[in-house]
Amino acid sequence: MLMLKGHFGVNRAGHLVVGGCDAVELVRRFGSPLYIVDEQRIRENYRRFCRAFADRWPKVMVCYAYKANSNLAVCKILQGEGAGAEVSSGYELQNALRVGVLGEKTVFNGNCKSRAELRLAISSGTLINVDSIQELRVVERVASRLGRPARIGFRVNPDIKTPTHPHIATGLRESKFGLDVASGQVMKAYRAASKMKDVQVIAIHSHIGSQILDAAPFEEEAEKLMGLVARIKKELGIPLQFVDFGGGLGIPYKPGEKGLPPEELASRVVPVIERVVKEYGIEQPTLVFEPGRYLVADAGILLTTVGYCKERPGMPDWVAADAGMNALIRPVLYGAYHHIEVANKMRAKRVRLANVAGPLCESGDFLGKGRKLPAIEPGDVLAVFDVGAYGLAMSSQHTAKPRPAMVIVNSGKTEIARLRETYEDLMRLDKIPSWLA
Ligand code: LLP
Repeated sequence: MLMLKGHFGVNRAGHLVVGGCDAVELVRRFGSPLYIVDEQRIRENYRRFCRAFADRWPKVMVCYAYKANSNLAVCKILQGEGAGAEVSSGYELQNALRVGVLGEKTVFNGNCKSRAELRLAISSGTLINVDSIQELRVVERVASRLGRPARIGFRVNPDIKTPTHPHIATGLRESKFGLDVASGQVMKAYRAASKMKDVQVIAIHSHIGSQILDAAPFEEEAEKLMGLVARIKKELGIPLQFVDFGGGLGIPYKPGEKGLPPEELASRVVPVIERVVKEYGIEQPTLVFEPGRYLVADAGILLTTVGYCKERPGMPDWVAADAGMNALIRPVLYGAYHHIEVANKMRAKRVRLANVAGPLCESGDFLGKGRKLPAIEPGDVLAVFDVGAYGLAMSSQHTAKPRPAMVIVNSGKTEIARLRETYEDLMRLDKIPSWLA
């Protein structure tokens, strides 16, 4: 039985097909390991997400979370679709500006923004979600020096439990993000900002976590954020134009796992907003969403070539591939499941139980464990699925392994979107002090 998502296929040779291209052929042409990104799939995901909300609310802004994959080609595809950008560093902001996303469609988040980053954000008209009162003061100073008002919101901590891995749950009260609601910090921050000449306070923001497949915590978030919007209007007279719900919509990683369709999410969240807007007679805000994973995760695969296979009596085989935690750290970091297939044996029977390891000298260096796979031989090409988000973006050069290349595919067309790193790239920044030379 094939366990593939609908945008993949298998050709007559029994090879995996992605974006109209034979995956085995791609490795032959571009080398291994190799990230592949399917352009059409990103477009489909974006359109579906947008439509789900735009069908239910007149003013919606979808800002792609660059941290998921800030490759310029990926950013350009989404900019072409009309997406805004959610950035969490000055360099991501530079990427957004470089691919032509307007400052007005860009949101800058983070709990430790530097003055240089703030200068770039303010001068490009980016919306800054301020994370602390101290940051607010710095924003005011930078804006007044630039002679240009800063457009800001505050990130608030909504104190919401999310059913996800603790490393990526960010809405709990103990989390480092956002201003505390219960102790009155939020109202204090809005009051302070409303008195600042060089600050326009126009937004409110929260992000409750990532890889969430349950609509309930998003509903709770909408309830809490809209409650604050109403309070800020009533008590401080500040009408907020943007309500930014962050990202977090998950995807199914395991075959057979159920996703949370964006239509269902929208149909649960938008009525909450509608109700509060009516009840308190506030103006319809622009809803901002910052999806990362949903837009790009399932558009990406990692192709890696088997070097060796070791059978062990009574235990799973150990398959050694040329990509491991250096190329994809999610399995060891979050215990994340990424589906694995043998790209050149898509129709072969799954007769072996195998652990798939990378080439690094660490026990955490694995891509998957206890997988039912066909008999594996050296030279086989493994495909690791759903790695378009937080894959290459979180890769490293551990044990001096150059990062993989990335190729964009679209209806049989291919082009390199990120070059493979070389030994020169690895060593370029190292210097031997003069007294050692
Ligand atoms: N907005 C903010 C403020 C965020 O912090 C994040 C992700 C997003 C949007 C996008 O969230 P998404 O829609 O992708 O869930 N490295 C982890 C995920 C970390 C997410 C961090 N923040 C992983 O590999 O699962």
